[in-house]
Amino acid sequence: MGLLRKAITELPEATLQKVQELATGRLGLESRPGKEMLLSLRAARHMRELGVSDADEYMHLLESDNSGMRLQGLMDLLTTNHTAFWREAGHFEWLREQLATDRNPEEKLTIWCAASSSGEEPYTLAMVAREALGPAAKERIRILATDVSTRMLAKARAAVYTEQRIRPLPEAWRRLYFEAGKNKWHGHLRVSREIREMVHFRWLNLVDPLPSIGPFPYIFCRNVMIYFSQETRMQIVQKLLDRLTPNGYLLVGYAEGLSGLEADTEFVRPAIYRRKSAMENGRGGAKWV
Ligand SMILES: C[S@@+](CC[C@H](N)C(=O)[O-])C[C@H]1O[C@@H](n2cnc3c(N)ncnc32)[C@H](O)[C@@H]1O
Repeated sequence: MGLLRKAITELPEATLQKVQELATGRLGLESRPGKEMLLSLRAARHMRELGVSDADEYMHLLESDNSGMRLQGLMDLLTTNHTAFWREAGHFEWLREQLATDRNPEEKLTIWCAASSSGEEPYTLAMVAREALGPAAKERIRILATDVSTRMLAKARAAVYTEQRIRPLPEAWRRLYFEAGKNKWHGHLRVSREIREMVHFRWLNLVDPLPSIGPFPYIFCRNVMIYFSQETRMQIVQKLLDRLTPNGYLLVGYAEGLSGLEADTEFVRPAIYRRKSAMENGRGGAKWV
């Protein structure tokens, strides 16, 4: 660690500034005092991955990145990917109730999981839907899981987790929704094919204009907005609200709120908001994709 720290402190100010600009511009990540060391560590790791030790060469590689591959590698390193199965469980219990009491049982619906990291959240959503609707869930429910990190999307698609990671889930789900790994995969479990097939992964950067997706009755966008500036957060929440069906629900992380956007939403319970229809908020003319 001592040597690494030394190498980092030797990174020129201009290099760190460039990385911070990319973090803010491409990912919406807020620059916060005290975070310089983390940023430096991640830039240094990126340099190692690219096999460069010279800061000028590194800057050149970033600036001449026509394919976008190097920038993507940096974005993969700059994002914080902490997640868990059954995280903030109240949201899943609420969703199970919603789906089980659905008044339109023939309807097909897509739930958008907008920062899906390594897959624990979207797979939990699929398992919850399976619990609520039984075998019909496979036909009725689709989970669109998106993230800006290609590394996390690859992990999520592989759907392999350790015993320890699946521990937060109800005990019986281990048998119902996972297949135990053998030989070199001993101690690992793979999400069952039935659950995997309900989840569709796709790369998406929330900071960019959104592609033509939705509208969705439920959007889970949890524990990502804490990393954005208030301005970026407001812009993203507005984009997400525009992708909800009238009266659709936006779920954010327990530590996140929608302050400043109360006019467009109705508080349902902590970190769950219902989109007001155009008639209710007076905006009028909302367009659905
Ligand atoms: C801390 S994890 C949260 C994962 C999950 N939603 C949860 O609550 O456990 C944040 C995720 O957001 C993703 N992320 C960060 N910035 C993003 C952006 N601009 N667009 C899309 N995803 C982003 C990261 O790659 C990471 O996987």
